[in-house]
Amino acid sequence: MKTIKELLAMKEQTEKISMITAYDYPSAKQAEAAQIDTILVGDSLGMVVLGYDSTVEVTMDDMIHHAKAVRRGAPNTFVVVDVPFGAIGIDDATDIKNAIDLYKETKGNAIKIEGMHTNLIERCTQIGVPVVSHLGLTPQSVGITGYKLQASSKEDAEQLIKQAQEVEAAGAVMLVLEAIPSDLAEVISEKLTIPVIGIGAGKGTDGQVLVYHDLLNYGSEHVAKFVKQYGDFSTGVDALNNYHKEVKSGAFPSEEFTYKKKVMGETGK
Ligand code: KIV
Ligand code: NA
Repeated sequence: MKTIKELLAMKEQTEKISMITAYDYPSAKQAEAAQIDTILVGDSLGMVVLGYDSTVEVTMDDMIHHAKAVRRGAPNTFVVVDVPFGAIGIDDATDIKNAIDLYKETKGNAIKIEGMHTNLIERCTQIGVPVVSHLGLTPQSVGITGYKLQASSKEDAEQLIKQAQEVEAAGAVMLVLEAIPSDLAEVISEKLTIPVIGIGAGKGTDGQVLVYHDLLNYGSEHVAKFVKQYGDFSTGVDALNNYHKEVKSGAFPSEEFTYKKKVMGETGK
């Protein structure tokens, strides 16, 4: 398993860091077998696995349930677990309790927090909970921002640089930047010591993250401009339909798939 120190060293040696989301045991096993550096149990879970309309509906219980399965599937990969909407931003005691619970119950290697929660990042860091920060497009705030390119003016870009420096100063161990101009992502990656992982942020970051279901065309409905599809799990529909037809026709199960031991004696058919 990669440690935070090793991820930092990868940035220093300009070795790119790969990250993929996973939400269950088999996807985590695949990610680990594929030698991907880090796994994110994203709250994108809500949309790609649970069929919610946005990440806003995802609960602590959802995240814990799925992250535990991911941990079992990928015991030797660095796992980051998303803090869901509504678990923080309440009051200091509640926020820190939820952060600790998520870290402790899932046995993740870090939690990820969207937005400028610098006090919470500091507090988590103090007590030993590693935090990955997520800035730029933060889907939990989609009710305010919409799904669109963020920091697209000079002024907003400069603010994002400041914010990135602030989360680093607060103790964040990594930063995810989503849907921002690539030149800005490159500047932020250069300015920060911690690894910066991009999604829709161009090639200048220290690593890349994509959503498992997007990358594999597995039931994802609309796919953003920045998604490259490396596989096509939609062919699973054809396989399921062939099974359906063979059940109807009786072609399945053929002898090959049948236990032929006779136990019914003379009267048996
Ligand atoms: O939930 C998620 O999948 C994420 C990534 C897109 C960064 O936060
Ligand atoms: Na997320």
